[in-house]
Amino acid sequence: MNLLKNINIEGKRVLIRVDYNVPVSEGKVVNNFRITQAIPTIEYCLSQNCSIVLMSHLGRPKGIANPEYSLKPVQLEMETLLGREVLFSDDCTSHKSIITSNKLNPGEIHLLENLRFHKGETGNNDKFSAQLAQHGDVYINDAFGTAHRAHASNVGVVNHFTTCSSGLLLEKERKYLSAAIESPNHPFVVVLGGSKVSGKIELISHLMSFADTFIIGGAMAYTFLKVQGKNVGASLVDEENITIAENILNEAKLKNIKIILPLDSVVSKEICENDDWRISNFDDMTDMELGVDIGPESAALFHDIIAQSETILWNGPMGVFESPSFSTGTHSVASSISDRTHSGTITIVGGGDSATAVESFNLMSGFSHVSTGGGASLELLSGKYLPAFKALDEHV
Ligand code: 3PG
Repeated sequence: MNLLKNINIEGKRVLIRVDYNVPVSEGKVVNNFRITQAIPTIEYCLSQNCSIVLMSHLGRPKGIANPEYSLKPVQLEMETLLGREVLFSDDCTSHKSIITSNKLNPGEIHLLENLRFHKGETGNNDKFSAQLAQHGDVYINDAFGTAHRAHASNVGVVNHFTTCSSGLLLEKERKYLSAAIESPNHPFVVVLGGSKVSGKIELISHLMSFADTFIIGGAMAYTFLKVQGKNVGASLVDEENITIAENILNEAKLKNIKIILPLDSVVSKEICENDDWRISNFDDMTDMELGVDIGPESAALFHDIIAQSETILWNGPMGVFESPSFSTGTHSVASSISDRTHSGTITIVGGGDSATAVESFNLMSGFSHVSTGGGASLELLSGKYLPAFKALDEHV
């Protein structure tokens, strides 16, 4: 794969695939994390006197133009963030939009309307890819969040360019979510949370080849605790995957990998902010109570292990962090990991809910890398070869 800084883009018209699939409410972007993370690529291109055409999807409009999924709010957010005008075209393949791209002067930026207003995008249609390619002389992919999709704007389009490269964000995501965890500094600790074992099976089996310790919190811990014969009350247990959880515990034992589970939980009768809660270990949880967060003993145990690690990957919250009463465990793990960053440990947050949690605790800058991917980061961490990477790797 070509890296951006290894190709000559001086004065060229670059077409950049970004992932601006961001939450929008009442015409405003409510979380600009993905937008800000792709800015270094844009700034680098500006420093090379390029003109820039940006293309993205937003939501799943299923091939039909729908104002609900317009990228117009992103244009406004970009103008605020970059402090310069961003031109906007309301159809990504119209003749008018292609003319606008062709007439751009160095330093000008042109954002195209949602790619998924055309069926050709998700269908990876070659004619649609060729139309998109008319917007630029050089193609750059910086859309990590979409890298697990084989769509026209990140796969088909490369066939229509002589020069293609990854953007700086795509390069960084691959470095941390693939290279850094596959040749980690040891001890390598993987901290997992979230609700279901099923969503993390492939990730666990892939990371078993590299990790020394897995810390498991969140609702998925109750499935493992149940396998160990613990009383987990009414906590969410992934019954369908009990055997898989058992196999994971057995395999870890054989491979001498430590699996660390919570010692206690915050328990409540309902996942409801106003309901009473208490701290309980797994001997005295009642049948009416369910775990909603890890307890203080667990947080202290997790902290001690994290404090001795040299590489940490974190994926999934420790509890229902969206409720302030049940966010303490997730906050504590986030702080323990970010403390390690300051001591030189490589600390990686795998995107999705954990990234949202880190943001809500104002700890974004406390990690080596916070991924912008949801499904894409899960697939990459599971060892899959993502279509967008393959397309760039194979481009000659
Ligand atoms: C995401 O938000 O995970 C990406 O933008 C991909 O979106 P999709 O799941 O609709 O393809």
